[in-house]
Amino acid sequence: MTVHLTFDNENLAKAYDEISNSQFNNGTLLVEKLEVKPGQSILDIGSGTGRLGRHINELIGDTGSFLGIDPLEERVKIANDKNRHGNTVYRIGVAEDLGFIPDSSIDIIYLNAVFHWVIDKEQALREIYRVLKPGGKVGFATGARELNSITGLQHITNKVLSEGLYKQAVNFAESTQHQHGLTATSLVQLLAGSGLKVREVQIKEIERQYGSAQEITRFFEASSFGNYLNHVPDALRPQAKSDIEAELEKHRSGDGWLKFSSYTIFAIAQKSLSIAA
Ligand SMILES: C[S@@+](CC[C@H](N)C(=O)[O-])C[C@H]1O[C@@H](n2cnc3c(N)ncnc32)[C@H](O)[C@@H]1O
Repeated sequence: MTVHLTFDNENLAKAYDEISNSQFNNGTLLVEKLEVKPGQSILDIGSGTGRLGRHINELIGDTGSFLGIDPLEERVKIANDKNRHGNTVYRIGVAEDLGFIPDSSIDIIYLNAVFHWVIDKEQALREIYRVLKPGGKVGFATGARELNSITGLQHITNKVLSEGLYKQAVNFAESTQHQHGLTATSLVQLLAGSGLKVREVQIKEIERQYGSAQEITRFFEASSFGNYLNHVPDALRPQAKSDIEAELEKHRSGDGWLKFSSYTIFAIAQKSLSIAA
């Protein structure tokens, strides 16, 4: 099962802009690690609805420049509608093809909650390397597959989908996480293979609280731009969603909240100042 870029719609895009606080918080931490400064040129790959971009605008000031690219038209539209800065552009594009950006022209690139969706990661890294200035940095915040698969929301989802009527019908090898998700090791290997210097890798546990199980599945639907449970056969998907919600409800804590931890890899890599081999 591949990643579908045609399943998104206006409602999912609007919902994502409203309820993506957890991604936004991770993004501000990622940007802190990248030490973004006034006047820098920034490329946000998979910029979504532009929430993090609006935060970066304050950091780079009027002398910096910001380009956000994303393959989803509805999300690029929201980002452009909300943009108030003349030095900022959002456009349709994918990580694998940055052909419209000159070589060695960008100070800082980041992919916040994006790299696990990118199908051809080696090609994306070749492009990132090409467009980064010598000394330029790239930052990633992406789910830590090794931990998320055995804990929290994903673990509960997998448990439901490995029982009863789902047991024979669901092929986990076809899940987006399985096919495209990253572990800290696989990310470091990709970065090292691209010629970038790995400067920092950290896995951080982040606890999130939700009022209801429906809030959780709504977030996953918006965040996956319609790819949620795409490894479950169509006919079983509505039932699977409600069975997962019922299972999540069992984890309500004493204070009334549904609290789950998830693990995010934060990684920073840099293009050497001298490119000599
Ligand atoms: C969970 S959203 C994150 C959006 C944003 N970075 C944020 O922090 O809110 C994932 C985004 O990755 C984008 N995406 C998926 N495949 C991509 C690709 N190959 N290149 C660039 N972006 C991609 C999606 O369109 C989506 O907007």
